[in-house]
Amino acid sequence: MSPGKTLLVLGSGPGIGRSVASLFASKGYTNLVLIARRAEQLEEEKKVVLRTVSSQVNIRTYATDVTHTHSLLQALDDADAAFGKPEVVFYNAARVLPSALLAHPVEDVEYDFKINVSALYVVSQRYIPHLVSLANADASSKPAFIVTNSALPHHPIPQLFNLSLVKAAQRNLAQSLNLTYASEGVHIGVINVAGQVSPEDKVRNPTRIAAKTWEWFEGAREKPNFEVVI
Ligand SMILES: NC(=O)c1ccc[n+]([C@@H]2O[C@H](COP(=O)([O-])OP(=O)(O)OC[C@H]3O[C@@H](n4cnc5c(N)ncnc54)[C@H](OP(=O)(O)O)[C@@H]3O)[C@@H](O)[C@H]2O)c1
Repeated sequence: MSPGKTLLVLGSGPGIGRSVASLFASKGYTNLVLIARRAEQLEEEKKVVLRTVSSQVNIRTYATDVTHTHSLLQALDDADAAFGKPEVVFYNAARVLPSALLAHPVEDVEYDFKINVSALYVVSQRYIPHLVSLANADASSKPAFIVTNSALPHHPIPQLFNLSLVKAAQRNLAQSLNLTYASEGVHIGVINVAGQVSPEDKVRNPTRIAAKTWEWFEGAREKPNFEVVI
């Protein structure tokens, strides 16, 4: 098993996922597990992180759809065997796509629910008990479970009704986890990105979002906070 702290990124892509992975790696999370559906894009993510971070980083990538529970669990078994279970889980998988109210197929509604909620539930079942044990065993550890969300739970956009409703359900699950496990030493929270992400945007660019995520994560012990709005 590789020494060092491990960050698990579910939904690794060129935006927020990449920036968060690179920043945590530069801060000492030297084992990264990156999960997304496209193998080629994951290779790119790996290359970019290795290029960006000057220190030694170990990266494992798994081309898996998080809604395929069996393959997801197999990938996580493999990653855990290589690095040990993660200290930080970053749940970032989503499809940011328009959905026309009443015209959008119900199968797509169900698929997005699986990405944002069912798979998050499966990942929580797997890692929350471990994060609680870590908090009890090692006072210097910072076990965390971080979910990327948005303003959509409070302010649904009808042209994005599908993402709005699954993000509302996702927030609700994260709140239940927080209400139950924060008192056991696990930092559980949502990073609410309240608008479109773009490298050109002064507020909602991936680099700034990653920096705000790190700030939230660092401050969580002294100033527990369920969410940060960016
Ligand atoms: N982009 C925005 O404007 C925006 C705005 C507000 C909030 N957010 C939130 O930010 C998060 C994403 O950040 P981002 O947009 O910058 O994207 P990103 O970090 O660049 O990448 C997210 C990755 O998730 C992966 N993914 C999607 N469905 C998946 C599935 N079924 N299984 C495994 N991986 C999957 C995709 O890769 P594959 O296609 O290879 O699977 C995608 O590249 C989401 O929670 C989103 O709701 C985004």
